[in-house]
Amino acid sequence: MSRQIIYLDNNATTQLDPAVVEEMLPFLTELYGNPSSGYQFAAQVRKAIELARERTAKLLECEPEEIVFTSCGTESNNAAINSAVQFEPRGKHVVTSAVEHSAVLRPCQELEKRGCEVTFLGVDRNGDVDLAEVEKAIRPDTALVSMMWANNETGVLFPLEKIEKICREKRVLFHTDAVQIAGKIPIRLRGSAINFLSLSAHKFHGPKGVGVLYVNKRSRFRSSIIGGSHENGRRAGTENVASIVGLGKAAERATECLGEEAKRVRAMRDRFEKGILETITGASINGADADRLPNTSNVFFERIESQAALMLLDRHQICCSAGSACRTGSGEGSHVLGAMHGSDERGRGSLRFSFGRFNSDADVEKALETIPQVIAKLRRLNSLVTAQTASA
Ligand SMILES: Cc1ncc(COP(=O)(O)O)c(C=O)c1O
Repeated sequence: MSRQIIYLDNNATTQLDPAVVEEMLPFLTELYGNPSSGYQFAAQVRKAIELARERTAKLLECEPEEIVFTSCGTESNNAAINSAVQFEPRGKHVVTSAVEHSAVLRPCQELEKRGCEVTFLGVDRNGDVDLAEVEKAIRPDTALVSMMWANNETGVLFPLEKIEKICREKRVLFHTDAVQIAGKIPIRLRGSAINFLSLSAHKFHGPKGVGVLYVNKRSRFRSSIIGGSHENGRRAGTENVASIVGLGKAAERATECLGEEAKRVRAMRDRFEKGILETITGASINGADADRLPNTSNVFFERIESQAALMLLDRHQICCSAGSACRTGSGEGSHVLGAMHGSDERGRGSLRFSFGRFNSDADVEKALETIPQVIAKLRRLNSLVTAQTASA
């Protein structure tokens, strides 16, 4: 069944790489030892975790001891934010953006309920943040700046190096949610001013339910998950060994694929956008003039409802999304497109298509054949309803 679908929702999650599955299997079967145990049988398991740490460090260009394995990207974000607010002596104020994933927005809203102050910076029509505003927002009592690297809905990239520079000059802790970055563009943490960075394995062809928090070795960090001394005392709980091993393999594959494969994915995305804009009138790309991830295309179609389009595309086995997967079914519009355009309208008619290395040119062709038909059908229905309403 999975072979028939055209999976264009790689920002929601990705297909497991078969090489990852192969590497995980022994740790789900015969190599079941607890990595903290003292005998040889457990030492093999410990060694596998350390290999995963090294492979992850290679992807991030950092030191293995700066890698903390967590249960997901959401946990990594929560851990960085809560640790900074609890232990940073500067104060309890946080600067973030209005377009973060709910895994940053919600913990920040919780902080507000607990008496902390949070500044949510807006974005322009391209989804870009104003650097002068970032600078102005940082106060003497700012504990942390948390700004995502790439937006999961639009693929728009924040100017990370410039934000990092501001944080370095202002001597304030900096966390970035880089969940959408791994395997798409290079990450070089050695020498950077990033204190904390979050990743999630299932976004780069690894398993679900395992993530990474990079903690720069000069940064103070305390997890709120307290117990045993796992992860060098930075995240208690017996390690999810098979998933960590899978994450490590996925990181290795992502490092290998950053060259030619990434170019192929970008070419598919570009061909897709060109085809859509050439064949469908009243279609435009959200964030078109900003720096964007090479795999993401968020398209606004005039005179359609994205929820109806999703249903029709699903009948054609095309998987894509309207906004982030985490908000599907919540009834809420896209807070990202809302922040960019100041209204819900753009969000109601936009669809996100995100490509990955398991997509083929045939997927792009099929999508380019189907999407114009679906949009035309929805517009015909829309006109019919409008005409009937007018004559009633
Ligand atoms: C930008 C971003 N941050 C965080 C997350 C949450 O990651 P996880 O699903 O591993 O909790 C996601 C997942 O959609 C995401 O896109």
